[in-house]
Amino acid sequence: MKNIVVAIDGYSSCGKSTIAKELARHAGYTYVDTGAMYRAVALYLLQNNHPMDSDNLTELLQGIHITFSLQPDGSQHTMLNGEDVEHLIRTLEVGNMASQISPIRQVRQYLVAQQQAMGKQKAIVMDGRDIGTVVFPDAELKLFLTASPQVRAKRRYDELKAKGENPIMEDVLADINDRDYRDSHRAESPLRQAEDAIVVDNSYMTREEQMEHIIHLFTERCATI
Ligand code: DC
Repeated sequence: MKNIVVAIDGYSSCGKSTIAKELARHAGYTYVDTGAMYRAVALYLLQNNHPMDSDNLTELLQGIHITFSLQPDGSQHTMLNGEDVEHLIRTLEVGNMASQISPIRQVRQYLVAQQQAMGKQKAIVMDGRDIGTVVFPDAELKLFLTASPQVRAKRRYDELKAKGENPIMEDVLADINDRDYRDSHRAESPLRQAEDAIVVDNSYMTREEQMEHIIHLFTERCATI
């Protein structure tokens, strides 16, 4: 079977990474979480007290090396300049900073170039906001995931709780709404559905139903090329 590129886009906390990881495992493909790359840049700027509007941003970016390290349990950890930052990048603070730095053109150009290089050999599942529109406009399979803000807020709330944080539901929902607005209204690569993307609304789908549907779409697509 021919290897393809699968681009998965959608709003925050609608389960993109869970689906992308499972599909990659099913297909034997590499999974790339591009949100983790924006988060790693955000963490670097926070840790080093660099303002977002640094004049020397391009130079700063050259000092940021992001890689992924496969763990014995099959999970993938984000590495920032050789340090495992997987847990540090998943906080609300870093998520907010990531949302603020992701509209910056230099940041996007720097990360998009790396993402395109990662997908050169195909056999990749990449998730983000602009994968089907900017990073891989020719991806063979494009999925656009969506779920209601309330359903996503509840998922995010449960995730943060499980990590030992003490979130407030209203804050989580407000945060989701803010991020949706910022992600879809920014001038640089706003989140939007590619014309040829297949929309999957998973508000009321179980994980199993969703996976079954997506694996079916993947198999069907691979069979036609
Ligand atoms: O998916 P996430 O919540 O981990 O993403 C973190 C932030 O990065 C989010 O505000 C959107 C942004 N992002 C982006 O602009 N482009 C991508 N391809 C992936 C994420």
